[in-house]
Amino acid sequence: MAKRAKKRTSKKSSTGRARQAPKMLSDLFLETLKDIYFAENKIIKTLPKMAKAANSKELAAAFNKHLRETQGQVKRLDQIFKMLGKPARGKPCEAINGITDEGAEIMKEFKNAPALDAGLLAAAQAVEHYEISRYGTLRTWAEELGMQDAAKLLQATLDEEEATDHALTELATSVINLEAEEEYRQAA
Ligand SMILES: [Fe+2]
Ligand SMILES: [Fe+2]
Repeated sequence: MAKRAKKRTSKKSSTGRARQAPKMLSDLFLETLKDIYFAENKIIKTLPKMAKAANSKELAAAFNKHLRETQGQVKRLDQIFKMLGKPARGKPCEAINGITDEGAEIMKEFKNAPALDAGLLAAAQAVEHYEISRYGTLRTWAEELGMQDAAKLLQATLDEEEATDHALTELATSVINLEAEEEYRQAA
């Protein structure tokens, strides 16, 4: 990701480096903000499909609840772009495209199957873990850049992502147990 120095012969002074470091971090901050902005908007399109596909009502409700939270998270990102004086714009993120593609594959291949919900949960948790990683990084960088208000907004979203991840873990146990029961009944 780091840009190669244009002139290899240019002298590096320690003071020059010190002046460059904050600029590089703010650039990274903005790029990563665009990445997660794209990801959140992709998730807004994906969650309703997952809610519709889910066999379990509880799982569908969890996806719908997180859809509403995600809409609020995009608004927080809008606020941060505003603080930076930059337009709110996403940058295509291959990581989230890959994760959501896998989810789409599960929905297709396990349609109406007892294991569908377990697959949906696994896909949703992969999304949450990606977001947790990104928001943790962004929150830390905002603090380092002295952007306390942005750091608070990012922390609020990080809390929601972590709470969602925990809720999905709890659902996973009940959903998988139910499906195991179903499989046992079908085999009997
Ligand atoms: Fe999110
Ligand atoms: Fe999320």
